[in-house]
Amino acid sequence: MNNIITSFSKNPFRALTEIAQSINSIKEIEPLLTKVMDIAVETVAAERGFLVLTEDGEFHLKAARNMSRESIADITEASSSIIKTAIEQNEPILTHDAQADPRFSGSESVIFQQISSAACVPLKYGDQPLGAIYLDSRLDREMFNEETLEFLLAFADQAAIAIENAHLFEHLREENLQLQSEVQRIYAFDEIIGKSAKMQEVFEIMTRVMSSNITVLLEGESGTGKELVARALHYNGHRKNKPFVAQFCGNLAESLLESELFGHKKGSFTGAICDKKGLFEYADGGTFFLDEISEISPQIQAKLLRVLQDGEIRRVGDTETRRVDVRIVSATNRNLREEVKNGLFREDLYYRLNVIQIKMPLLHERHGDIPLLTRFFLKKFAHKSGEKLKKLSRESLRAMERYHWPGNVRELENCLERAIVLSTGEEIQQEDLLIPKTEEGESGRKTLKEIEKEVVLKILEEEGGNKTRTAEVLGVSLRWLHYKLNEWNIAGKKNRTSAG
Ligand SMILES: Nc1ncnc2c1ncn2[C@@H]1O[C@H](COP(=O)(O)OP(=O)(O)O)[C@@H](O)[C@H]1O
Ligand SMILES: [Mg+2]
Repeated sequence: MNNIITSFSKNPFRALTEIAQSINSIKEIEPLLTKVMDIAVETVAAERGFLVLTEDGEFHLKAARNMSRESIADITEASSSIIKTAIEQNEPILTHDAQADPRFSGSESVIFQQISSAACVPLKYGDQPLGAIYLDSRLDREMFNEETLEFLLAFADQAAIAIENAHLFEHLREENLQLQSEVQRIYAFDEIIGKSAKMQEVFEIMTRVMSSNITVLLEGESGTGKELVARALHYNGHRKNKPFVAQFCGNLAESLLESELFGHKKGSFTGAICDKKGLFEYADGGTFFLDEISEISPQIQAKLLRVLQDGEIRRVGDTETRRVDVRIVSATNRNLREEVKNGLFREDLYYRLNVIQIKMPLLHERHGDIPLLTRFFLKKFAHKSGEKLKKLSRESLRAMERYHWPGNVRELENCLERAIVLSTGEEIQQEDLLIPKTEEGESGRKTLKEIEKEVVLKILEEEGGNKTRTAEVLGVSLRWLHYKLNEWNIAGKKNRTSAG
């Protein structure tokens, strides 16, 4: 100890500064209290000591030095009144003759009988009492003096600050852990809704790549869940305790995006008033999600290739290269291969990004998931607002299933959130959805092929499955009808067919 901390008798100020530095660097409460006791005992050459903290109006022993459990029990009993006085009256106590001191309640114990000097100083943070430090020495030791007490008071002030900080730090860490598990819950797989074959395919690939560092490219239109999948990959993989950093790459000035991603050196351009760390450095050890990757300029493409090939980045205007370890997940709503063909995107980068591709299905390609998604979002909104869970009327659900959702799941989510507000009763009505009505047979935004199929099947149904009559009504040849039914994979499944 004394080789670490300057002896307080030699240079009390220096000793205090060193002590402050030493204890302030300890963020965890237990090692901190142990250290505080070590310093207290050694600096004033006390023989033994302990530290108590007040919790719910009572004091609890937290750390001890050179004392057995029995003697601590004995001493705390004997000295409980001086500890109380120290804490409650915020008053330091020093005694040279413990046995004769009326502040000690008097103890029969041998341990107590031998005490020559004892000191007790309160630990307080502002006006708030935190506890106390107790020190003593037995007969054969040098006695404490006023200087000892002065030092102990100054030391207790430092220690109290460090203790309060450690408490705060512990509290923050707990809060952080709680938030982290919350985040992990939100991005659990079962928060990604879909039972359709197309979503099952997505889940299957996700499961395979989840715990690897493999680079993933997510292709799909806006609102199909690309970012959701990227986060789920991160929070279910082994990088989950490191950062997930997302950067949108569309519509950003090249220089701005470049300095965001890679950082810059002070003075490398007007406005670069100090060195700046790039997002790749922040994401070190974690996952980097690059959204709208097709939008990045050739220069940034080249820098990104470097990250993928060598794990190296260079801040704008800097000569030094830095190593980063990031898993890259990128997303695009374009066909990136087409962009390569058209010379808009580097082929080598494309292959590096597209090691594994996950194609996100359009919502209207998985109509069957709409009831599930709807229930999921209605529950989520009810939970969020604390209001009663609303239901969808049958017509509303049918309308949702018929609508083609150009904005995909995002549009569906927004539509329901709005509908909850607009609806007056317990059920959400079709008008609350504010989506264009698509009556059966009416075109809506369907393709010609879809309308054709709908009309043909409707007539077939009306004609009780009689193909000959259906063909007549439609004014087409029977051959044409067979051909179409075959194409839709219906011919063999219908059993109520006519002889025709
Ligand atoms: N399969 C899904 N299950 C539940 N919510 C989804 C699903 N897909 C998308 N979402 C939700 O839809 C919104 C848009 O998803 P997002 O991942 O941002 O799409 P993208 O990145 O493809 O534009 C988000 O609120 C997301 O939580
Ligand atoms: Mg997105």
